[in-house]
Amino acid sequence: MSLTNKVALITGALSGIGLCSAKEFLKNGIKGVTLADVNVDKGQEILSLLEKEYGSNRVIFVKVDVSNQDEFEDAFKKTVEAFGNIDILVNNAGILNERDFKRMVDINLNGVIIGTFLAMENYLPKYKTYDDPVVVNISSLYGLDPSICSPKYTATKYAVLGLGRSLSDQAHFETSGVKVLTICPGLTETAIVDNIYEKHPPGRYVNILNNFLPTINLQKPEVLSIAMVKILENFENGDVWLVEDNQCH
Ligand code: NAI
Repeated sequence: MSLTNKVALITGALSGIGLCSAKEFLKNGIKGVTLADVNVDKGQEILSLLEKEYGSNRVIFVKVDVSNQDEFEDAFKKTVEAFGNIDILVNNAGILNERDFKRMVDINLNGVIIGTFLAMENYLPKYKTYDDPVVVNISSLYGLDPSICSPKYTATKYAVLGLGRSLSDQAHFETSGVKVLTICPGLTETAIVDNIYEKHPPGRYVNILNNFLPTINLQKPEVLSIAMVKILENFENGDVWLVEDNQCH
């Protein structure tokens, strides 16, 4: 699909992969982008920056906690009000917090399920521009290859991958007309990786991490967002793409 004239709603769009993806979509001619994120102060700041760079009628910010269905639905409604249509949902918001794992499951998994079904059952079939609306779910390398350091986070990312695989069934596609694409980033230089370094519970895992992390080649979030645009140009319903070491498979 081409991004021209399309509209996207991106969750977790104020930082890292989400922010870079919003910028890359705008650079590639998208009509409108909704930045959906919990952080209201940062939302206003990023919105002004993007408006200056890409024009004031192409971006909106909506405060959304993805685990809250009413707030998520409000973001869909405001997107349609602002731009007239919606074609792409990127379920990108995510945290890595092994201690507060219930909150992490709420965001990384429940938030993705809420967004995916609002998109497939209500908003994308009704408000798409052309015939190729898509839900892009951000899983992780850890959704394919388990992380010994973050088992609870890994469980959420496996589940997101399972959701995409289940929905890729032709029956779902025929009912909704919405494609599902799962992207699994390898380790990428964002705030979430800082959390691995700084907030990991002490114990034997710290030793594992100390041995493990410095050897890892972190990719830039810009690389991931460029890859996402390329993948969107040509993918099949149900595809799972791994983007790591600056390569897509
Ligand atoms: P990040 O920490 O830079 O960005 C996460 C964004 O999500 C922030 O803007 C934050 O405010 C927002 N957010 C947090 N809780 C939210 C909520 N309840 N509702 C709405 N927004 C919320 O992290 P990064 O790396 O850009 O992560 C994006 C996605 O990529 C996540 O799903 C993450 O699990 C995934 N990922 C990241 C990798 C990495 O190495 N950075 C590797 C594999 C996957």
